[in-house]
Amino acid sequence: MFYINFRWKRRKLYALAKKIPGTDGLPLIGHAFTFMGIDVRNNINDSGKLLQNNLPVSKIWAGSLLFIVVNSPDHSQAMLQSTACLKIPFIISRPFLHRYGLIIANGAVWQHHRKILSHSFKINILQQLMPIFNQKCMKFVEKLQPKIGAPEFDIGHYVAALTLETTMTGNFHYDHCFYGSKIISDIDHGKTLMMKRMIEPWWNFEWLFQRSKLYKDMKASITLLDAKIDEIIEAYKTNMNNNEHRGTFVIDQLMDPANNLTYEEIRDEIFIFIIAGYETSSVTLSAILLMIAMHKDVQRKMFEEVDENYDGGHIEMEDLHKFKYIEMVIKEALRLFPTVPFVPRKVTQEFQMREYTIPKDTILIDFLYFMHRNKTYWGEDADKFRPERFEPEEIKKIHPHAYAPFAAGKRVCIGNKYAMYFLKIALVHIFKHYEFSTTYKYEEITATMSPSLEIAQKYHVSVERRKS
Ligand code: HEM
Repeated sequence: MFYINFRWKRRKLYALAKKIPGTDGLPLIGHAFTFMGIDVRNNINDSGKLLQNNLPVSKIWAGSLLFIVVNSPDHSQAMLQSTACLKIPFIISRPFLHRYGLIIANGAVWQHHRKILSHSFKINILQQLMPIFNQKCMKFVEKLQPKIGAPEFDIGHYVAALTLETTMTGNFHYDHCFYGSKIISDIDHGKTLMMKRMIEPWWNFEWLFQRSKLYKDMKASITLLDAKIDEIIEAYKTNMNNNEHRGTFVIDQLMDPANNLTYEEIRDEIFIFIIAGYETSSVTLSAILLMIAMHKDVQRKMFEEVDENYDGGHIEMEDLHKFKYIEMVIKEALRLFPTVPFVPRKVTQEFQMREYTIPKDTILIDFLYFMHRNKTYWGEDADKFRPERFEPEEIKKIHPHAYAPFAAGKRVCIGNKYAMYFLKIALVHIFKHYEFSTTYKYEEITATMSPSLEIAQKYHVSVERRKS
């Protein structure tokens, strides 16, 4: 009786869901078994099962919860541009344990934080970051020197220190050395715990979670990171009048009394920027370096471009446009290994996603990883690493919304330009000095989620000084 009543109340939802492609799964549980059989911590390709034969849009029932997976540029565009799709679903934000912070915040909090923090990502402010990007990348080049001629090593550890130092200095005026720092492994450990909570469905039962070892470990991990954040805030207060770029960076906005943020909001936002800024740049740059090490022809073209346009010293913002091939390399790496592999949204009111009416409370998953590799839009060589596909004449032929590594619409990545400038500067400095090799074969590598997309085999390369 209860079940019939439940179905009757939701009849509109079921009627709309019927029109969405895909099977209905089993009675009561839907596709719950499909979900449970997927562990993206092993191999993200496992989640291809959710696309149901590569459909552009497919429905998945997890019990009574309707998910719709998007794998087409037109539908992705409709979703990301709609004001009905601005909300981050609870199942994604809950494992963070922090309540505030742009990636997970919703409603008025998100609007207020986005407005004040957008200021720190305007071009004239980014310009002030150029000396920091240059200094940090030059230090990285020095740090790699002892590795010249050494056996293959995981360059991810070095890149993590580079991007953490850049994030801490460029967002919070916290200029410290992070090479060999314990905080990097603390963040890694926190990510592993967070993924565990996201993936293992039984942790959705709050009662169970609160009594688990996982909860205790997560609390301990957050306490460690919060202590570091308290230190960042204290250092800011102490040095407030000495900061060279005072008034412009993320922390300046957060600490400005006119913006009226509580201590908890400030702390949580710093946490989110560490995850969103440091971690994404770190895995992206590591993946790019591995791709370049594997593709010697690409590396040669990069050498040519660097030698033609760069003589040494700091790279200015006005010079960045000269490195067109390097930009294509970054874009191609982000196509195959989009650091944020999917964008989740909770639908807050019924809306039209092209030909489909999407019911309120549906959870949409825009699966960038699969859309970026979809042969319908990228051609038969979609799985190949070929930066030339981003040549202006070639990319014109590709659907404009088939590529969205920074998402789109009102929640587009706030740091997208920051990230692109930083990556370009890093690559110019690195390839002015070094040549990379690896014994890894492109065909053998796989991607995992943790929660950013990472290469499962890690980033093993060897480094030689370039012969000029
Ligand atoms: C290659 C590097 C990066 C990639 C691929 C990337 C990608 C993305 C994507 C896809 C989103 C949308 C997520 C969603 O809506 O669910 C996002 C959001 C965000 N990103 Fe990035 N990001 C990168 C670097 C950065 C950097 C360097 C920063 C800061 C310095 C940053 C800060 C943020 C923030 C704060 C948000 C949340 C925006 C909001 O919801 O209003 N990201 N990023």
